[in-house]
Amino acid sequence: MVDPHEAEKAAAARAAVGRVQPGMRVALGTGTTAAHAVSALAARFPDGGGLTCVASSERTEALARELHVPIRALAAGDRFDLMIDGADEVDPSLSLTKGGGGALFREKYLARRSQQFLVIVDPSKLVEHLGSRSAIPVEVVPYARDSLLAELNGRGLPATVRPAADGKGTFRTDNGLEVLDVRPSGVLEDPGRLDAELHGFPGVVETGLFVGLANTVLIGRPDGSVEERRARGSR
Ligand code: A5P
Repeated sequence: MVDPHEAEKAAAARAAVGRVQPGMRVALGTGTTAAHAVSALAARFPDGGGLTCVASSERTEALARELHVPIRALAAGDRFDLMIDGADEVDPSLSLTKGGGGALFREKYLARRSQQFLVIVDPSKLVEHLGSRSAIPVEVVPYARDSLLAELNGRGLPATVRPAADGKGTFRTDNGLEVLDVRPSGVLEDPGRLDAELHGFPGVVETGLFVGLANTVLIGRPDGSVEERRARGSR
């Protein structure tokens, strides 16, 4: 199936990669939009540009290797000048839902170690309230999964276990964990509060709510232009 947002994603990715300078340490996100950024990096720096890149998933790491983007595993003490990643939802304060591709833990881990977190999206990702377009992914320890489902449901946070793509069993993240997709019943007014609440459940490892992390969101438009939104008091 042809993605109707392909050109918009590519435009946003090119604009983000235009901000990468030779020698930078770059964290790479996961998903179809982030994949455009990996391709754009390969095109902009055919000789590697002295970059040091670390990926948020095995999938992105494999793509970077295939395209000869300099990539290595995360090392102790790593910090990044820039992280480039997509998102499933962006609200007006630039809070995000991420993890539709299941890489939420590593994405948040790298974003927190990056001086600038640059998010690239097409306009379909813009929402008034997180949780209105996508479910909120929550990465959990499989042992605790069934108890968590019941506890979340009891708190008005109905969730489903994400199935594997081939329909056989449950989806597993690169960390060997499972993902619950939470669909809050009402409008999500305070994503930061929900993030904190979810972290209070034993067995929750990470949530796909990224609050106060994005510095800049680049939105690719159908005509190839790119709109920039910056977070207030951005790092
Ligand atoms: C991966 O875990 C996600 O956070 C993705 O970054 C997000 O789902 C956006 O993916 P697409 O660019 O494929 O829409």
